[in-house]
Amino acid sequence: MAVKPRETFGSRMGMLLAMAGSAIGLGNIWRFPYTLGKNGGAAFLLLYVIMLVFICLPVMISEYLIGRRGASNPFRTFDKLAPGSKWRWIGFIAVLASGCILSFYCVVGGWSVKYLVDAVSGSLMSFGGDYADFFGAFISNPWEPLTFTLIFLGITGLIIAFGVRNGIERMSKIMISVLFVIIVLVVIRSLTLPGASAGLRYMFVPDMSKIDANTCVAAMGQAFFSLSIGCGCILTYASYVKKDENIAASAAWISFFDTGFAVIAGLAIIPAVYAIAAMNGVEPDVNAGPGLVFITLPGVFSSMPLGNAAAVLFFLALLLAAITSAISLMEVLAAYIIEELRKSRAMAVIISFVLCGVVGMFCSLSFGPLDGFKLFGLSVFDFFDYITSNIMLPVGGLFLALFAGWRLKRANFIDELTNGGALKMPRWLSLTIYYLVKFVAPIAISVIFLNCILS
Ligand code: PFF
Repeated sequence: MAVKPRETFGSRMGMLLAMAGSAIGLGNIWRFPYTLGKNGGAAFLLLYVIMLVFICLPVMISEYLIGRRGASNPFRTFDKLAPGSKWRWIGFIAVLASGCILSFYCVVGGWSVKYLVDAVSGSLMSFGGDYADFFGAFISNPWEPLTFTLIFLGITGLIIAFGVRNGIERMSKIMISVLFVIIVLVVIRSLTLPGASAGLRYMFVPDMSKIDANTCVAAMGQAFFSLSIGCGCILTYASYVKKDENIAASAAWISFFDTGFAVIAGLAIIPAVYAIAAMNGVEPDVNAGPGLVFITLPGVFSSMPLGNAAAVLFFLALLLAAITSAISLMEVLAAYIIEELRKSRAMAVIISFVLCGVVGMFCSLSFGPLDGFKLFGLSVFDFFDYITSNIMLPVGGLFLALFAGWRLKRANFIDELTNGGALKMPRWLSLTIYYLVKFVAPIAISVIFLNCILS
């Protein structure tokens, strides 16, 4: 059978939007605001930005560079670049991590489908009671969240089945643009509510006493999760990138977009929470955990003019963002199954759907019938969230940086970074990037882990 040439993205903009689409997702809109709320607001944001520059950007550049040089799935890429070595298992762990993330990600994706459906039908806004009860009743029901989880996973699989250019690229282009417009509208609504300024203060005036070893791990995990780095996702997308892209510039743009989006999502949510609490004369509860978006926001929407329209727009945005990220996760699995297990794309999608669907089922049921079942003291959902974001991704990132900095060798690193010298990059810049990758990022990740273990 003739081997088909590997697909590439059709345009530079399409590639950037697909990577940004992977990065911008539930991590920005659902996870960022409540992790910020749980970890002390502005001080967390400050830590997040510092880690972004000194750890995440170098890791992203490493992953991008390795992916483009290897032009294959994560497993094969390491085998190509370091034949016969143990590095290939990093690729395998990356594939595993993507599957684990998708398994709990599709549960929250399913929640957004449900909220969108209810917002469109009007039942979300006409509920009239406490939204904590609404959310609690929904997630503890065994069947309803499970059905929505599988619907979400099914939509993701369908897009992946169409392949890189027709599926991922086209979808990402449309969805990210729509998303941006919607979220800006919600921010305007939120910031014009009376009392919103206290939320702004919470987000932007840091209280350094809030920082401890756990805050550092949480900020690092959130940054890795949000940027989609450390689990082969950027590596897989980079394998479809043409050889003339400016890697460092693309990575910087994606990080900038993603962080901008997280801050915008925070601006849509946190000030509104403060404003509504002030209106009702109660303490704002930004520490509401994973329910923040799903419990607090419907309450926010229902008590503001044009609330129903805002709810529809918001949950549509959440769903669109979730889909563009979920497709990037499933593509890591699919690329591995297609190239290593020699299956067709359709078959790869079916296998990924079944595997993630089964694990996702346990994650979903852990809010209901499996409530009492704990792994290391955590529910199945929290367990997958914690080990992937806070451990697997940073460890994956550590090895990616070590591989790019130590195994690839300086000449190869700079050669790939500057597209074989075709790109005119000042020497100080390429060397700074190289040393950030080789020393700063790996040392910083190790210190943060050690600090947490020892504290
Ligand atoms: N970055 C995505 C988000 O913020 O929702 C989640 C994610 C996608 C994490 C892809 C990791 C990944 F490989």
